[in-house]
Amino acid sequence: MTDNVNVGLLGLGTVGTGVVKLIQDHQEQLVHQVGCPVSIKKVLVKNIDKSRDVELSSDFLTTDPYDVVNDPDIDVIVEVMGGIEDTRQYIIDALNAKKHVVTANKDLIALYGSELQKVAAENNADLFYEASVAGGIPIIRGLADGLSSDKIQKMMGIVNGTTNYILTKMNKDGLSYEKALSDAQDLGFAEADPTSDVEGLDAARKMAILARLAFSMDIELDDVSVSGISNVSKNDLKYGSMLGYTMKLIGYADQDDSRAEVSVQPTFLSNDHPLAAVNDEYNAVYVYGEAVGETMFYGPGAGSLPTATSIVSDLVAVVKNMRLGVNGRSALAPQFEKQLKTSNERFAKYFIRLHVRDEVGAFSELTKLFAQHSISFEKILQLPLEEEGVAEIVIVTHKASLENYENVLEQMKDLSVVKSVESFYRAEGDGAK
Ligand code: HSE
Repeated sequence: MTDNVNVGLLGLGTVGTGVVKLIQDHQEQLVHQVGCPVSIKKVLVKNIDKSRDVELSSDFLTTDPYDVVNDPDIDVIVEVMGGIEDTRQYIIDALNAKKHVVTANKDLIALYGSELQKVAAENNADLFYEASVAGGIPIIRGLADGLSSDKIQKMMGIVNGTTNYILTKMNKDGLSYEKALSDAQDLGFAEADPTSDVEGLDAARKMAILARLAFSMDIELDDVSVSGISNVSKNDLKYGSMLGYTMKLIGYADQDDSRAEVSVQPTFLSNDHPLAAVNDEYNAVYVYGEAVGETMFYGPGAGSLPTATSIVSDLVAVVKNMRLGVNGRSALAPQFEKQLKTSNERFAKYFIRLHVRDEVGAFSELTKLFAQHSISFEKILQLPLEEEGVAEIVIVTHKASLENYENVLEQMKDLSVVKSVESFYRAEGDGAK
């Protein structure tokens, strides 16, 4: 064990800058924790001459990733450059060179986490990725260590700050989706191309990572069913609110008898659900364990210093393992073979908003269809619309199987009394004012 730990940084953007600052500003505390200084030895950047927000001599900077990956004096690589294929290769090469790796890269971990973990274990190297899900919230360590004695039954996560900001502004300030999105872009929460956030892909990657860990099963990104928020309207939120619900983009994962389901979708949460109070760009993950019951992890899901906090904490864990000589031992192979629930094993309540012809027998047509598919109504709201002879109906169902729900949606469009199916969402809880 050396008396100094050398770190190589791949990337010096917003998060990389935060990592350098945190290592510099908290050096005394780090030395106390790990028993030796932690130094940045080399940093991969795109442009050496660019002015930066941290004090770092240009002697440390390089534009060649292999100056970092192949440096024999570097003990730990911190990857904050993003990207998938090239980055995957740098990480594999670093692990094969017996270096430990800390990464914030959710795209990479969601796609190649199992493979990279295997390469790490073969080399007695650590691969930690706390910052890849929910930035500053220690949810990975919460699942891997804090709740390791329990059996996780269910998780619900607000794991995308951009969409939470948009939905909060639509809900609280009455903004349209388009205005809320452009405000999020002006404030730097949303990317110029917001597709992966608003269509749920970013959250799906994070949920694949969480579900793999929580259920000890090789859940992959393709196993996550995904829908985003780009079609959510102010009217949906208004009717949801009348029924005691708040809309959030929820990553949902549960398991029964080692059969799992994972999804990301806009969901009406009962106002008394703890996640309903998580607003603006904040993230939170609600975890239900068989023994512990309800827990919730809350905090910033992105940002330079919050994300750097998770990365540097991973670094501390790596160095503690180096001191004990136990690197690469913490990654466990999945305990269970992956088994996913089929659509007749997935149950939820649903919110359906439709326009019907306001005429005798309209409602009985609807109830007949729902009854044929064994779905019963929990709440119903009917309001006249400005258009003559048309009514707006909002239904919240009791729990129904996904199979029955999808059949009803399909056949409802063909009922002569139904003018249009305006929207439909998963609902969670009873609705509370
Ligand atoms: N685009 C992400 C979000 C950033 O909005 O939450 C953090 O992964």
